[in-house]
Amino acid sequence: MDYLELMNQRHSVRKYTDKPLEADAVNELNAEIDAVNSESGLHIQLVTEEPEAFQAEKPGYGKFSGCKNYFALVGPKGKEEEIGYYGERLVLKAQSLGVNSCWVALTFKKSKAKFEIAEGEKLYMVIAVGYGENQGHKRRSKHINEISDCGDNSPDWYIAGLEAALLAPTAINQQRFYFTLSGNTVKAKAWLGFYTKTDLGIAKYHFEIAAGKENFTWG
Ligand SMILES: Cc1cc2nc3c(=O)[nH]c(=O)nc-3n(C[C@H](O)[C@H](O)[C@H](O)COP(=O)(O)O)c2cc1C
Repeated sequence: MDYLELMNQRHSVRKYTDKPLEADAVNELNAEIDAVNSESGLHIQLVTEEPEAFQAEKPGYGKFSGCKNYFALVGPKGKEEEIGYYGERLVLKAQSLGVNSCWVALTFKKSKAKFEIAEGEKLYMVIAVGYGENQGHKRRSKHINEISDCGDNSPDWYIAGLEAALLAPTAINQQRFYFTLSGNTVKAKAWLGFYTKTDLGIAKYHFEIAAGKENFTWG
């Protein structure tokens, strides 16, 4: 799987066709969810053929159409960053199967959602998945100098990681994170704001893939 290509191809998709998820795709996504849940302690679930959760609750929230499948991002409290990191792993897995996606924190009807929440857990948000009417669109992005301390002497792997972090989806495209490098230690922090911890987890997943885990440690 060429992850960089997947990151470049991925855009948020909000309009989906009627086509149900193929059985092979469902199996592969469920296998990835099992791997993610056992590694992380999260309780992520794939819900299929369940359109009600995406029906517009209020006028003005009708941006989604045809969406009936989603990952329910459920887990213990205080796991915002992990939700981002592992949710994005599922997004890129879906992209590799030709399945489009969109992270959804707000434009979603929680009361109509169907999945399990065990004691001590909560639903953080969902990720819509399905076959898009289109592949979404390239959007504007910050520059690596705005999200890091990178300079003329920065190693190539660091720059590659930062560029991949800028391909990560963030709530309202805010890209409110900052990376610093000292020796081989990379620190990444989120600015204050809505969903910025989850955005940070997503960006760190992208960074790690492109930079190569063997080149650095998280500080
Ligand atoms: C944590 C998070 C929450 C999001 N919530 C919503 C949402 O409620 N509604 C929506 O339409 N898009 C939502 N998005 C999608 C972003 O608007 C989108 O990722 C961003 O504009 C960048 O575009 P791209 O995903 O095509 O790169 C969310 C994204 C993230 C990461």
